[in-house]
Amino acid sequence: MFDHERAFALGLADRAADVAMGLFRGDGLEVRRKADLTLVTQADTSIERMLREQIALAFPGDRILGEEEGGSHDPSGRVWILDPIDGTANFARGVQVWATLIALQVDGEGVLGVASAPALGERYVAVRGDGAALNDEPIRVSDVASLADTHLLLQEFRELLTGTDRRAVLGLVSDTWRGRGFGDFWAHALVARGSAEVVLEPALSIWDYAALEVIVREAGGRVSTFAGEPLRHGGSMLTTNGLVHDEVLARLGGY
Ligand code: IPD
Ligand code: CA
Ligand code: CA
Repeated sequence: MFDHERAFALGLADRAADVAMGLFRGDGLEVRRKADLTLVTQADTSIERMLREQIALAFPGDRILGEEEGGSHDPSGRVWILDPIDGTANFARGVQVWATLIALQVDGEGVLGVASAPALGERYVAVRGDGAALNDEPIRVSDVASLADTHLLLQEFRELLTGTDRRAVLGLVSDTWRGRGFGDFWAHALVARGSAEVVLEPALSIWDYAALEVIVREAGGRVSTFAGEPLRHGGSMLTTNGLVHDEVLARLGGY
């Protein structure tokens, strides 16, 4: 299923990589602040424009929701969900951890996810029911089952350490094997491929998580909000290898 869409999305990822790599670490990269004070570069805007044009040509009946140009959040039917550059701040500062995220949802369910990170040489792809792959090799979450052995990845330290979950977060930092800040899309990809077990994200938009949730689930992992509910636009995201998910949820609800 979705073979045509998968091949199409990989072609989009190639085109996006060409644009992004042509601008990454280049002289005179335009970086602006958006109304919400987050950064945007010409890579973000030109890649989303290109993706939208190609999708509209190939699948004129499908809807599109993207970070830079918006769109309806109505989940019915087929919707392409785009984050042209996830990790824009990294891109702007010359850090290689950024990706173009492309997802397809049908009636609100993720069926295809692509995270293309050309500066890392990594492309993660998943189709519902077909498993997940990194550079065409199948990937799988780890079998770590105890918090004491868990590799914990934190995002947005300020929000995590000042919000209502701060005591639980500090408890997890104390009680896990190792805490690191490998961030943005890459944290979730590291769980999917078995290099880490837990990611705590205090707030994400649908374009941040739509592709990643397919990749993590197809690799055998689990995603939810910190309250154990399905992901929602603007909500938190707990990504795990599945085995430690309930224990982390109990910590988040129990402090
Ligand atoms: C960011 C990443 C990051 C999350 C931030 C997002 P952007 O996306 O998804 O993981 O912690 O909240 O803004 O802005 O680089 O596309
Ligand atoms: Ca993002
Ligand atoms: Ca983005």
